[in-house]
Amino acid sequence: MPERSRASSAHISPSAHYTGYVWYRHRLAEPAFVTAFGRFVHKLLWPVTWGARVGFGLDIEAFLLQRHLQIDAQLTAAIEQGGVRQVVEIACGLSPRGRRFCARYPQLRYVEADLPAMAARKRLLLHGEGWLGGEHQVRAVDILAEQGRHSLAALFAELDRRQPVLVITEGLVNYFPLALIEGFWSRLATELRGFAGATYLTELYPDLREHPRYRQLRWGVELIGRLTRGSYPLHYRDHGEIVAGFQRCGFATVQVFDPSADTLSLGLPPARVPGLVRVIQAQV
Ligand SMILES: C[S@@+](CC[C@H](N)C(=O)[O-])C[C@H]1O[C@@H](n2cnc3c(N)ncnc32)[C@H](O)[C@@H]1O
Repeated sequence: MPERSRASSAHISPSAHYTGYVWYRHRLAEPAFVTAFGRFVHKLLWPVTWGARVGFGLDIEAFLLQRHLQIDAQLTAAIEQGGVRQVVEIACGLSPRGRRFCARYPQLRYVEADLPAMAARKRLLLHGEGWLGGEHQVRAVDILAEQGRHSLAALFAELDRRQPVLVITEGLVNYFPLALIEGFWSRLATELRGFAGATYLTELYPDLREHPRYRQLRWGVELIGRLTRGSYPLHYRDHGEIVAGFQRCGFATVQVFDPSADTLSLGLPPARVPGLVRVIQAQV
């Protein structure tokens, strides 16, 4: 992997402070997950998010909650009905999911992973609150590293291959061009084939050109790209392209969820516009 791509990927990390603050605002996280930067960015963006909500019915925080709670729901089902006992959350950022699920399921092995600097920050945070240790760990990983100590192979080497595993990425894949992220998915599928059972959960923003708010969506995507000093490409046009894409990467079974279609079961108010985000559950 060229060093240049790896260096640019670190620019994505500040966005974790914003989402971390959103999870806290919606009572999904303890105050320890809040950073001054996250609070500042949330305040800075408030006029934009308010305008999008009032003017166009595009509620950014509602979209974030939809993806977060749909992933929670799939993870809960995998633990309670699918027998999953080990979870790897890649690009965990300042998400409280690891903390919440370890508190709820004390036997669960939960490995949070992110780029080295963010992983160090998360480790410090969890350790400082006395939440780390035992089955809850933090590791450094770079999804673009094809080999070495930050590669997927190194991350999965610690896990029990006789047990099913579930891998999560949230808020990650649309920061990368499709070819790069499909490279990651292919390497991930190869790793997952070594386990007794494996599930991958991610959210994805497709290029929904027929969406009634497509023009505003393009503005939003442009803004996210500028704020993170990169780009925010939308991947695949529809359900069929998503399934075909994941199958090309080595996933045999692919389910696509639109969380806006079932907000009631996620404990959210009804969606005001058709959903922009999809949650993918894929198995090798
Ligand atoms: C938008 S944040 C999402 C954080 C968290 N999952 C959430 O939803 O709140 C994106 C995360 O991706 C991480 N990230 C960026 N590039 C990465 C890479 N190459 N490998 C692993 N993680 C990466 C960032 O450090 C950051 O924590």
